[in-house]
Amino acid sequence: MAHFELLARCPTTRARVTRITLAHGATMLPTFMPVATQAAIKGLTPQQVESLGVTLILNNTYHLNLRPGIKVLSEAGGAHKFQGWNRNLLTDSGGFQLVSLSKFTTITEEGALFESPFTGEPTMLTPEESISIQHAIGADIIMQLDDVVPSLTQDRARVEEAMERSVRWLDRCITHHNLSGKRATQNLFAIVQGGLDLELRDRCVTHMIQRKNDVAGFAIGGLSGGEEKDVFWRVVKQCTDKLPEDRPRYCMGIGFAEDLLVCVALGVDMADCVFPTRTARFGVALTHNGPLNLRLAKYASDFEAIDSSCPCPTCVKGTSRAMLHHIIGRETAAAQGRSLLASVTIHNIVFQARIMGDARDAIMDGTFPDYLRTFFSNYFGDVG
Ligand code: GUN
Ligand code: ZN
Repeated sequence: MAHFELLARCPTTRARVTRITLAHGATMLPTFMPVATQAAIKGLTPQQVESLGVTLILNNTYHLNLRPGIKVLSEAGGAHKFQGWNRNLLTDSGGFQLVSLSKFTTITEEGALFESPFTGEPTMLTPEESISIQHAIGADIIMQLDDVVPSLTQDRARVEEAMERSVRWLDRCITHHNLSGKRATQNLFAIVQGGLDLELRDRCVTHMIQRKNDVAGFAIGGLSGGEEKDVFWRVVKQCTDKLPEDRPRYCMGIGFAEDLLVCVALGVDMADCVFPTRTARFGVALTHNGPLNLRLAKYASDFEAIDSSCPCPTCVKGTSRAMLHHIIGRETAAAQGRSLLASVTIHNIVFQARIMGDARDAIMDGTFPDYLRTFFSNYFGDVG
């Protein structure tokens, strides 16, 4: 199993610095994982991403299973080799994407029944199959198949059913994973469900931590579905209060800077979201003073870099906001436009890595509360 070490703890919050060592090296936590849905971060090569210091990315089982498919991935020797990524990789199990992307998904006790987007054939994704696909992909961290309901669902009975089913599916994933012989190199994470109901969350955590010896980490799922921030934070706290100290905690689908830092303060170690890379493609650059929408007319003659203190290749080269403004919206026109847009993606990945890296440094130095205060006053303060 993964080697997981505690390096420092903030005395006044639950924030901590840890290191997880997996088959493709060490990753310092807390960290943000960029999402490479189709085995690539859109617009970037894996080498570019590696050169930014990123050591853990996320792929989606659902997408990889459709294209290129398990046969090609197995022939390639797994997704690391297929995409030319030498660092750690985490795959999501596919259930969440099925529910959010496929119109005709039905959840049964057996698994998630959906209509293949290619053939229209009814297709079943079971917990065992999700694990087998993730074995073929070869990710360092693999996720259980879970039953996810949208967080704003009012039907408590359905939320309870999904939570209990997620526990039963965890057991099926554990059995299948333990029999596979892949435990030495691939690490299974459980996913806590239970919607916005604190009692259901608590029960789910209680069940799942009984399986602690069979799982390498715990995720908190079913959030980021439009719920109020204070509700979201309360649910995260409910989970992190009881999750074991000696396992990483991963909050799924979280990527706004303010959410990341609050989650870190609540004891979360990992998060992922398409937000920073997707928003870059819409021309939005993330900064310590809040997001910059480079499409706005005011940037047409702004010759500053996105952030003059940013160490990313885009800012170091001095690529101006005006140049980025000029090219955004014309990205289909020219390869140059595409590579400039990729330069916003690069900046945003580095921004996410910096806020988490700076959080780690502050936790190590005993200055994490000051770091939070400064960050929030810059991010939401008056920039003049
Ligand atoms: N991504 C964002 N939220 C979730 C979740 O609840 N489950 C899974 N499997 N993936 C997610
Ligand atoms: Zn930058």
